[in-house]
Amino acid sequence: MSSNSDKDTVGVKAEKRIHDQVPSEQYAAFMRTGWTPSDLEGLEPLEVVTYAFARRQVLSAAFPGVRLVLPSGPFKVRSHDTDYQYRPHSAFAYYSGVQGSDATADAVLVMEPTEGGHLTYLYIHPRSTRDTDSFYRDAKYGELWVGRRYTLSEAKDRYQIDTRHLDEIQTLLKDGRETLTIRGADHSIDSIIPSNKGDIDFNTFTSQQRFVKDEYEISELQKAVDATAAGFNDVISVIPAAVATPRGERVLEAAFYGRARVAGNDLGYTTIIGAGSHACVLHWIRNDGDVRMGDLVLVDAGVEVDSFYTADITRTLPVSGKFSPAQRSLYMLVYEAQLAGFAAAKPGVKFSEINKACQAVLAKGLADMGVLPISAEESMQPEVGLHRRWTLHGVSHHLGLDVHDCGHARREDYLDGELREGMVLTVEPGLYIQPDDELFAPEYRGIGIRIEDDVVVTADGCRNLSEDIPRHPDAIEKWMKSLLR
Ligand code: GLY
Ligand code: MN
Ligand code: MN
Repeated sequence: MSSNSDKDTVGVKAEKRIHDQVPSEQYAAFMRTGWTPSDLEGLEPLEVVTYAFARRQVLSAAFPGVRLVLPSGPFKVRSHDTDYQYRPHSAFAYYSGVQGSDATADAVLVMEPTEGGHLTYLYIHPRSTRDTDSFYRDAKYGELWVGRRYTLSEAKDRYQIDTRHLDEIQTLLKDGRETLTIRGADHSIDSIIPSNKGDIDFNTFTSQQRFVKDEYEISELQKAVDATAAGFNDVISVIPAAVATPRGERVLEAAFYGRARVAGNDLGYTTIIGAGSHACVLHWIRNDGDVRMGDLVLVDAGVEVDSFYTADITRTLPVSGKFSPAQRSLYMLVYEAQLAGFAAAKPGVKFSEINKACQAVLAKGLADMGVLPISAEESMQPEVGLHRRWTLHGVSHHLGLDVHDCGHARREDYLDGELREGMVLTVEPGLYIQPDDELFAPEYRGIGIRIEDDVVVTADGCRNLSEDIPRHPDAIEKWMKSLLR
């Protein structure tokens, strides 16, 4: 539906999308009257409220005396006046707790310094009530165009944060008080706040605070993994349709997307569906290839739940339901590498040790197969690394609100940092034999395999949140048989 499709609504401003004209004052007055009151009284606070409060306490203690501004961000334009589905900035989501369809564009969380810490305010564009014109004129915010939002008092009940109208934020932010913000989250907010050398450290801090997950986050990540598991079942169920349909990769992609939207908020990232040698292209998101009997198909997908936490799971499946001997032997090497990665993940160990443990197994396997021209030990020297011709990427990253969570952390605290209880990580070794790789026998060429699971670091090791999604080739064959008959 176009917002300027009829004669009465020409002149829609691209930015605000307000209809310039209404037929008459009589019409405007008529539209304001005759509506049943519909404020929602006594909304229950969300479960996240106490966790978000504790997170803000940590942030407040780290930045005393300074105003902290966390924008949710604007809509992102897809083309002309069509936006993508709205998704708030992760730092805003983390400290506010705002979630699901409650998240509305342009909101800003402000922490005002006081004697003992900070007072928090959630600036929102509240509901366009029936006494405004915007509920029917504003294609961007109007209730009859995009649906109801909370009033200030409803949002306060839900999030237990004092709320203010977004119209007041310009005046506040122009008062000259020292302010730190997450640059790039909302350019209109950036333009009001003078840049501060501390902004980078502020962003780093908000990223690193998310290294260790609280119990609410771990349970949300488990929900994301469980919804993703259901999505993988859906994918397997449509493999016959994918084989029968041109561009069958899209059939698998669509099946997973359906689950993500029905069970969660969205995908946590664009699904990778690599059938045959497309599996050897690490970020194959075109997903426009055929799915052929006898090939493997690599599916890297994650459901983002309403709290915006995402899973990140990869399974490599035989399209026929049965691995060939060459597929199985390469698969088992990746499988063994992943077991070594799980074993390495424990508190006190450097994050990079997980990668080393997986790579050591893969390098030895490649040397045993006779494709590595030097010993595995020599290849494992950081300045040598020949095995990486087939392993291509690191095997772990933090996971949370972002699929590559804590992305603004310092290198020394991330890659070179020590694992701590409560961190959530992927373990995702892979082997990729390009179709034109003459170092491998022909039956191996074009095989790409990755196995990716999501683990939480425990007191003495790690727990696999995605343990219930079959991984061993025998278990995969059994799983597929149960869904494909
Ligand atoms: N899905 C992106 C990754 O595995 O890191
Ligand atoms: Mn990953
Ligand atoms: Mn992945």
